[in-house]
Amino acid sequence: MRTNAFPPRLALVAGAIGLLGAVTAVVVQIPASAAASTLGAAAEQSGRYFGTAISTAHLGDSQYTTIAGREFDMVTPENEMKIDATEPNQGQFNFTNGDRVFNWARQNGKRVRGHTLAWHSQQPGWMQSLSGSALRNAMINHINGVMAHYRGNIYAWDVVNEAFADGGSGGRRSSNLQSTGNDWIEVAFRTARAADPNAKLCYNDYNIDNWNDAKTQGVFRMVQDFKQRGVPIDCVGLQSHFNGNSPYPSNYRTTISSFANLGVDVAITELDIQGGSASTYANVVNDCLAVARCVGITTWGVRDSDSWLGAGASPLLFDSGGNKKAAYNSVLNALNAGPTISPTPTVSPTVSPTPSTSPTAGGSAPIRGVASGRCIDVPNASTTDGTQLQLWDCHGGTNQQWTYTSAQELRVYGNKCLDAGGTSNGVKAQIYSCHGGNNQKWVLNSNGSISGVQSGLCLDAVGTGTSNGTLIQMYSCSGGGNQRWTRS
Ligand code: G3I
Repeated sequence: MRTNAFPPRLALVAGAIGLLGAVTAVVVQIPASAAASTLGAAAEQSGRYFGTAISTAHLGDSQYTTIAGREFDMVTPENEMKIDATEPNQGQFNFTNGDRVFNWARQNGKRVRGHTLAWHSQQPGWMQSLSGSALRNAMINHINGVMAHYRGNIYAWDVVNEAFADGGSGGRRSSNLQSTGNDWIEVAFRTARAADPNAKLCYNDYNIDNWNDAKTQGVFRMVQDFKQRGVPIDCVGLQSHFNGNSPYPSNYRTTISSFANLGVDVAITELDIQGGSASTYANVVNDCLAVARCVGITTWGVRDSDSWLGAGASPLLFDSGGNKKAAYNSVLNALNAGPTISPTPTVSPTVSPTPSTSPTAGGSAPIRGVASGRCIDVPNASTTDGTQLQLWDCHGGTNQQWTYTSAQELRVYGNKCLDAGGTSNGVKAQIYSCHGGNNQKWVLNSNGSISGVQSGLCLDAVGTGTSNGTLIQMYSCSGGGNQRWTRS
């Protein structure tokens, strides 16, 4: 059933969105015979995407890559960007498999959803054994490290995954992350926003599809609270793994529209339906199409044989031989019959095929405080490791010239790095011999703040001071003028 006000043969010229900007949408008549023949193209008619989980395990299988390359326009790495994959040893990041999926997606013209940054599951051993502030700092460091690697190149991140409890409580799941304090989720989102302001930030969970479930209500209240308090959140992911115990609910559309009404996008992020009912698949698609801010659908795998549930569950749109199933046809037909005006045109970030970690690397320049007008200065042109930085009148000396390198360092004198003396509020911003550690890597944020990759804290003029000699420290990012800087 269609609820959209636009007749089926009105179609958006998708390319016009990019030319005319996000506000103007062009509607033209197209013949019915122009129905799209792939899932991605059919979804794009309404400004949506149709994606799949991709696993490196199958990238050498040409049947798999042929189907995936043809049908889908969004990719989620099934396991390759999870915590155990990307930070197997503390502080040592590994993007080998994440990059394989990422590069396959980009080389085939697809956007990428990142999955996932903070989760109780699939934590590497070192993280499982942490607790308290050590775990909290490790989570922040992990978010910064992974998001820095893919900065500007990810459409949306599942920042936090599966943080709510099953059953009737409507509360949080107990986990080592939860034990660090109830604010761990908002800390994760604030960290993520600073780490990559271009990525949409999502909360993702299963069994939040039925509007009457306590778990759904619990997540709804959290998102409502975040929106009211300005905690950065852009989207909610309904995983939507449907089976006998968790069937497709008749109020699914209410759930989608209720979240959307909070002012967030809704995405169906891991869809599979045990048994593969064609009519249930069509219901899911129609429910998404009926809500303007339901931006896209991702199935959790390509062929039944690729599913985490095993081929016997028959949960996906292609059978184990790569043939289109009845469910495939019902999804394609529903997409083609759907609304044809873009609900939320989303401009994809400009990307290079390979992730860039240094979008703004460049030559040497002073770092001038917005509030003070004074520059970050190494006192007395010292070269001693551990010398704390200060504000001083800008004079162009070598002790005020900072080079942002492709490794995200801020170098002075060529061989000394801006170095965070720790990860808590009030620690020194100092110079130290460059060693490649994450406490010497910095993100130049679009609001002018400069945050540490390891701590997530910002460079800060102590006490909001503006005079010569004011010391520079690390402090929670506030957006204040004593934390904003220009480089020229
Ligand atoms: O690759 C190793 C293999 O070498 C080893 O022999 C084998 C032994 O068990 O394990 C293999 O790794 C498995 C991996 O999938 C790749 O197949 C892991 O054990 C297994 O735990 C892992 O399961 C993944 C699961 O998340 C882990 O939580 C599934 O592929 C993946 O589909 C599933 O995805 C999750 C989403 O991230 C979050 N929502 C639920 C969804 C389904 O559980």
